[in-house]
Amino acid sequence: EDAEYKKLCENHKHLIETLPKCNGWWTPHLHNYNGFWLSPDILKANLLLHTYFKSHPTDIFLASFMKSGTTWLKALVFSTLNRHCYTFSDHYLHKHNPHSAFSPLDAESYPITDFTNSSTPRVFSTHFTRTMLPACMSSCKFVYVCRDPKDVLISMWHFMNKIRSKDLPPLSLDEAFELFCLGVSDYGPFWEQVLSYWSASLEYPDKILFLKYEDMKKEPEVVVKKLAAFVGKPITVEEEEKGVVREIVKLCSFENLSNLEVNKEGFEKFGRLVNIEKRDFFRKGVIGDWKNYLTKEMKERIDGITAQKFKGSGLIF
Ligand code: A3P
Repeated sequence: EDAEYKKLCENHKHLIETLPKCNGWWTPHLHNYNGFWLSPDILKANLLLHTYFKSHPTDIFLASFMKSGTTWLKALVFSTLNRHCYTFSDHYLHKHNPHSAFSPLDAESYPITDFTNSSTPRVFSTHFTRTMLPACMSSCKFVYVCRDPKDVLISMWHFMNKIRSKDLPPLSLDEAFELFCLGVSDYGPFWEQVLSYWSASLEYPDKILFLKYEDMKKEPEVVVKKLAAFVGKPITVEEEEKGVVREIVKLCSFENLSNLEVNKEGFEKFGRLVNIEKRDFFRKGVIGDWKNYLTKEMKERIDGITAQKFKGSGLIF
């Protein structure tokens, strides 16, 4: 262990002891670091990122709030970028979970994962708010996906109860709702995290592609074409005629991915400490499932917060 890492660990320990804390969703606590709530390991991952990560100008970052469509976005970007390397009858994604395609920047690993064997462009994923990323990344391209906060809340509540420590009592929907509204959830507040990318996308439209889960559901082919152009590999007329866009959409669809054997059993490892059952990345994959869970009052409260926070930003839900 080098001296720099030792210093980082001491700083981390100090932060955990001194930062404001709140109940967590799957960890006992979340800590408020520069306005955002992080679990202890994710906070450490952020310190590691700042200390060790060196971006390349060609890097592409897939950013999202948790449960906003990260798995889907990874599959779409991977199959779009690598469409010349595989056939649609024998594809990498038939045998691998989309998360294994690109490394997350938020996993606690030391020294930060060796990225040397990644192909060009290197692609990474992150849930960190834009303001919490090292400055060297700001000249790189980002694809951000956001989703209706009501669906994010319900998706996250289900997911967190699955990965939540067995030493903790189950997280009730009422508690999750209250925490979410207060902005207390991993990488939250939701609204500030979304806005950090939204405003950057307005400022640097050629650097940040801002997508919505709902638009991806409604017009997946349009999104694939946008993605392809954005990553510098536009779909040609010939490809379009051959049905390549349709094939990508079909391959990455919820129905297809969630029914593949590879996504039904086994675990995906995030960093050293977190193992997630692959099937837990796929639940329903629809718009508006919140209607089955939230009361009218709950819906109005979230919508009110969203309207107030996004007011004047040009972003609407
Ligand atoms: P639900 O819990 O509402 O079903 P993330 O990938 O960011 O963790 O988000 C998970 C959410 O995306 C889950 O939402 C999951 O079912 C949905 N999802 C996963 N793969 C998908 C796909 N290929 N198409 C659409 N939605 C997908």
